[in-house]
Amino acid sequence: MKILIIGSGGREHALGWKIKQSPLVEKIYFAPGNPGTKEIGENIAIETLDFKKLLKFAKSKKIDLTVVGPETPLVLGISDVFRKEKLKIFGPSRKASQIEGSKTFSKQLMKKYKIPTATYFSFKDFNEANKYLQHVKYPQVIKADGLSLGKGVVICKNRKDAEKFLKQLMVDKIFGRSGEKIIIEECLYGQEISFMVITDGKDFLSFLPSQDHKRLNENNQGPNTGGMGAYTPVPFLDKKLIKQIEKEIVVPTIKAMAKEGCLYQGILYPGLILTKEGPKVLEYNCRFGDPETQPLMMSLESDLVEIFLAQQKNKLKNKKLVFKKGFSVGVVLTSSGYPGEYKKGDQIIGLDKVNDKDVQIFHAGTKEVDKKIITNGGRVLSVTAKGTTLDETIKKAYQYIGKKGVYFKGMQYRKDIGKNGLIFGDKYD
Ligand code: AMP
Ligand code: GLY
Repeated sequence: MKILIIGSGGREHALGWKIKQSPLVEKIYFAPGNPGTKEIGENIAIETLDFKKLLKFAKSKKIDLTVVGPETPLVLGISDVFRKEKLKIFGPSRKASQIEGSKTFSKQLMKKYKIPTATYFSFKDFNEANKYLQHVKYPQVIKADGLSLGKGVVICKNRKDAEKFLKQLMVDKIFGRSGEKIIIEECLYGQEISFMVITDGKDFLSFLPSQDHKRLNENNQGPNTGGMGAYTPVPFLDKKLIKQIEKEIVVPTIKAMAKEGCLYQGILYPGLILTKEGPKVLEYNCRFGDPETQPLMMSLESDLVEIFLAQQKNKLKNKKLVFKKGFSVGVVLTSSGYPGEYKKGDQIIGLDKVNDKDVQIFHAGTKEVDKKIITNGGRVLSVTAKGTTLDETIKKAYQYIGKKGVYFKGMQYRKDIGKNGLIFGDKYD
């Protein structure tokens, strides 16, 4: 089989790394890919939103399956474009991807179908939203309706902060049309976890739960980022809680989407918070998480391509997702300045020092110039290890970071990836 993977991040590198292990696969193309993906397939210089060129390429190479990494092409309807031409593509339709593309849509869905989430109000008018903000208890969470590069959500500690962000969204329009509609919701407290399932619109298979580390600094301090690292599985999420999440969130969401005429086929990834009253949905994503996919792919035993094919044929019911015992931990290395403006162009040293089958370095913001790999983005690499206990796996990943392993000028990373899991124990069954 020939596979085309759309995207250029660590998630796509990790998906490609796993897909490459399938005996069903003969060749992988990445559009546009990165220097890491070049080692396992062929990079094609087509951008993720250039549907016309992607379609032409897929037809000319007789691609058997296209796998979409990021949300924007999905929300803009790449799956519909491919399916219309009878090409197999893994990812939900434009209509179904609204679950991530519009928070108003997803909140209404959850309200209608009684799926646990934060109570909220939605607004289209600045004055009305501003009036509402005068009478509420703080903190309050304000969210832009549409995609905003992960920056459209702010937890506002007081009225002043809330008014400021509201004005940025609705008057200054810093995210353009994404902020024309907004959500204001209660703040939830508890552990935040990522729960991904693969679904054909009826049946589903759950991946192991994982936990991302969204804040820049240790102990969850500092600004929000795209994710500074992740680990899987999560020791405090036991089988009972997983069953509860599947029953109260996953099943009702898949059913609700079908009922609304948005049959959901692809990865459904609700971001959850484990509150005292039980798990609640913070948001839905219509694709694999980044950086959670990096450790998830290292823990996955099953052939991912077989699973994708079963999903395409609506035969997930007959399949199982099997995971290796133990844990996987991925630590993201970022450029200095990230998540604000960051520097590019520093040489990455030591990539060749990692010769351990249980440690993979997934590329994201990197570039190859004159046979050297240099930094070219905010999140540069994720050093991902597979091990037996969580404690040992964390050590295994960190052992390759710094002058004894991989480093570059201005490199930043959190020193506590996975440690949150240790507080609750090192066991998972
Ligand atoms: P979202 O894009 O909706 O997931 O929001 C981004 C991040 O903001 C989440 O990963 C949470 O850390 C945080 N967040 C969003 N909504 C809430 C909420 N209602 N209460 C507390 N934190 C939230
Ligand atoms: N890990 C957060 C995301 O993929 O949206």
